[in-house]
Amino acid sequence: MIIIPGSASKDLGIKVAKMLNVELVPIEHKIFPDGESYIRFTNDLKNNDAVIIQSCSPPQDKNLIELFLMLDNAKDLGAKSITAIVPYLAYSRQDKRFMPFEAISIKTIAKLIESIGIDEIITFDIHSLEILKNFKIKAMNFSAMSLLGKYFLNLGLKDPLVIAPDKGAQRHAEAIAKILNSEYTFLEKHRNRVSGEVITFHKNLNVKNKDVIIIDDIISTGSTIANASKIAKNEGAKDIYVGCTHPLLIGDARKKLKDSGVKKIVGTDCIINETSEVSVAPIIVEYLRKKL
Ligand code: R5P
Repeated sequence: MIIIPGSASKDLGIKVAKMLNVELVPIEHKIFPDGESYIRFTNDLKNNDAVIIQSCSPPQDKNLIELFLMLDNAKDLGAKSITAIVPYLAYSRQDKRFMPFEAISIKTIAKLIESIGIDEIITFDIHSLEILKNFKIKAMNFSAMSLLGKYFLNLGLKDPLVIAPDKGAQRHAEAIAKILNSEYTFLEKHRNRVSGEVITFHKNLNVKNKDVIIIDDIISTGSTIANASKIAKNEGAKDIYVGCTHPLLIGDARKKLKDSGVKKIVGTDCIINETSEVSVAPIIVEYLRKKL
C-alpha cells in the first residue's frame, strides 16, 4: 500500500503513512503562471494499492483539480487499486435543486470522480448521507464525532448540554452526548437561499450556569453557530464550546463566533487551520489496516 497525500492533506497523509508503517509517495506540486495545476508523483506505484488523500477545502476548485489529476495519474501509471480519501468533499451542500434549474453540483463531482475508474471513495461527516448515493462506486462516510467526543470528554466539563444548531446536526450532537453521557437538544434553523441569511428560532434551553457544546458538521460563515451561541448565552449558559469536523471559517466567521460568546472552536484536520486540534488519522488508519 502506498499513501499519496495531496497538497491540501499533506500532514494528514504523512501521519497515516507513519501510523500504518507503509510507503509515502510525496507529490511535486506547482501552479503555472497562468494558474494551471501541475502534479508529479515522486515514485512509481505500479501494481500497488494507491491511497490518495486530498481534502477539497478552499480553494475548492484548485484542490479538486489536483485530486482529479492525482487519481487519474495513479490509474494511468498502473496502480492495482485506488482509494480516494477526500476528508472534506466540496460541493456536497448543493445536493439538490433548491430552486428551479440549479446545477446539482455534487452529482457532477461524483460523476467526474468515478469516471476515472477508481475503486472507492471515503469522506468524513458528509453533509447528508443521501449524497453517497450519487456514486456508483463504493462510497463511504466516516465520522469524526467519536474523536471530537473524546476531545470534549478530556476537557472534564461538568454536565454540559450538547446543542445541534439545526436539525441536520442532531445525529452529531447525539453522538457527542452519548460519549459525554450528557443531554442534547437541537434548534430549528431557516436559511434564506438567496440572501444567505440564517434565522434560528428561539427555544428555552436548560442551560443556566451550564457549559454548552455546539456541534455541527461544517462551520462556514459562522452564522449558524453564532445564532445558537447567542440563544444559549441569553438563556444563561456559562462557557460555550464549539466542535465541528470541517472548520471552513470563511471571512469574519472567527470574529462572529467570538462576539456571540464562543469560548473555543475545535475542528479536525479534514480542513487545516489553527482550530484543527483533532486528527482523523486514527479512523483512516483503522480502515486501511484491514486492507494490509
Ligand atoms: C448546513 O446545514 C451545515 O450543517 C452547517 O450548519 C452550515 O454549513 C453552516 O454554515 P454557516 O457557518 O455559514 O452558517
